[in-house]
Amino acid sequence: MKALVMNCSPVKNGATAEIVNIVSKCLMERYETRSVCIDDFKFHFCKGCRTCHRTAKCVLNDDIEKIIENYEWADIIISVSPSYWADIPGQFKAFIDRCTPWCNTHEPHAAFSSGKRGYVVALRTGTSMRECKRIFESIEHFYGHMEIECCDRLGLCSVEYKEAVEQRKDEIIEFCNKIQQTYGLYESLQEHRGKNDE
Ligand SMILES: Cc1cc2nc3c(=O)[nH]c(=O)nc-3n(C[C@H](O)[C@H](O)[C@H](O)COP(=O)(O)O)c2cc1C
Repeated sequence: MKALVMNCSPVKNGATAEIVNIVSKCLMERYETRSVCIDDFKFHFCKGCRTCHRTAKCVLNDDIEKIIENYEWADIIISVSPSYWADIPGQFKAFIDRCTPWCNTHEPHAAFSSGKRGYVVALRTGTSMRECKRIFESIEHFYGHMEIECCDRLGLCSVEYKEAVEQRKDEIIEFCNKIQQTYGLYESLQEHRGKNDE
């Protein structure tokens, strides 16, 4: 099983990166794990030309394919996103716009291999969970159109800098344990089905 942990923040050493490190370390015990930051990649904004609605390909040529390769590689994707003005950071939104060739609302469209599962961790400085829910909705909407099944989400309020993450480590580890338990069951089910097919 392969896990991709995506830092949706442009900050490579902030609170989001700290959470990405905890999640990666936890999942590494059981899965092959990669973590990437949206800021590792250079890409243009979607031009809205809709050529991809006819061709399933983008007219632009940049690092988007490299991000997509990571998504294609993974069985599970954990998106860790801070709230920037009550939603996902612009850099991550710009990436989502560029995923239009893979969006299942038009034919033809490009597609990932099936069976991928997605998770969301949202964090913010303010105290209300309502804003984390906006982030869940944005990322779940993206997962839905990429046919990635959204399986669970975790919201962390009152987090501004990475120092605040240490106090939330238990919640993050518990969330990772739930991911692993789900996969333990999933793997057993696959094994069981395999035996029955023999
Ligand atoms: C441009 C910007 C906008 C932000 N907007 C919000 C906001 O609307 N609500 C909130 O609770 N926190 C907001 N924050 C705080 C971040 O969600 C919080 O500091 C988070 O831990 C940032 O993680 P990062 O440094 O890894 O990107 C904002 C931070 C930045 C830099």
